[in-house]
Amino acid sequence: ETKLWKIEDITKNSTQIEAAANLLKKQEVIAFPTETVYGLGADATNEQAIAKIFEAKGRPSDNPLIVHVANKRQIDQYVSNIPDIAEKLIDAFMPGPLTIILSSNGVIAKNVTAGLSTIAIRIPDHPVARHLLEACQLPLAAPSANKSGKPSPTSATHVYQDLNGKIAGILDGGNTGVGLESTVLDCTSELPIILRPGGVTKDQIEQVIGTVMIDPALAKTDDQPKSPGMKYTHYQPEAPLWLVDGDADFFQAQIELNTDKGYKVGVMASKELAALLHTDNIKTCGTRANLNEVAAQLYETLRAFKKSDVDLILCESFEQAGVGDAIMNRLHKAASKKIKQSLSPDETSL
Ligand code: TXA
Ligand code: MG
Repeated sequence: ETKLWKIEDITKNSTQIEAAANLLKKQEVIAFPTETVYGLGADATNEQAIAKIFEAKGRPSDNPLIVHVANKRQIDQYVSNIPDIAEKLIDAFMPGPLTIILSSNGVIAKNVTAGLSTIAIRIPDHPVARHLLEACQLPLAAPSANKSGKPSPTSATHVYQDLNGKIAGILDGGNTGVGLESTVLDCTSELPIILRPGGVTKDQIEQVIGTVMIDPALAKTDDQPKSPGMKYTHYQPEAPLWLVDGDADFFQAQIELNTDKGYKVGVMASKELAALLHTDNIKTCGTRANLNEVAAQLYETLRAFKKSDVDLILCESFEQAGVGDAIMNRLHKAASKKIKQSLSPDETSL
């Protein structure tokens, strides 16, 4: 009974957006596109509505949600104050893929913030999201609209696959552009801290407000190999993902080694690496020369590998610069095993 509204033209489809907004006003949960990934929205001031989000996703209740608002004025309504740096960030990046953490004034429902005194807030840069926010006149708490643990949804089809029958409706605005979630920046401390790398890069932020810190927890990528069957909980494709860090010859050797062991091996790579590999199950996710392309295709490619086709996925490692930070953050979380090429003797002797 999940309603599906296709939004092809924002000016001609306002009745569909009104219908979705009316359900939101009745404490229902609606999925909608943002420029990053699809969100699962509900009235951020209503505890019952928010409880339905956690229920539909199977999300642990101690993980707080991001509040989405239509404009800068609305941010004022939910925070106790806006520090100067936050003011600058809002002017520079909103609407856009940046979420800032500020002190809450208590208007937002307690289960949105998981009991914290702070709230995460952003202005999405997508015409459907913005029309929806205007139409319902509510702040919308919205996590990514996937089943907890799976890759985030970048199309309405992904949302449908995960949540059909569990939510009131889905606004289909086509594929999202950025493809990775917003950058989460804590602005409550003296020096702002990046809690999650995302669509806005560290460099871009530093150009506006100067030095920012990175949450030390992000540096811990856990290089301890885990068994392929081990359960993991983030951005999880249907088959275990092994992250391979090495050149094309090393990658090819990993394909052959695991094929010889009897595994059906899938490969996820840039078109540059794909051109150098010999294997029959390879899915490309854009070009290394433009990591924005990789970001946009990452989750869709992860979702495209089916349990019935592959026992494991060998995935390329990307350069950790610019949006590559966010890409590698997600891949490290998705990976159950990391395989690194050791340096050759002449390299180590340098
Ligand atoms: O791009 C996005 O941010 C998407 C779209 C739908 O807007 N949303 C999204 O939400 O990725 P979600 O729930 O999947 O991730 C929210 C992140 C989590 O890592 C959560 O822990 C963090 O934001 N967060 C939310 N409130 C917080 C708070 N008060 N303090 C620290 N972290 C917070
Ligand atoms: Mg999520």
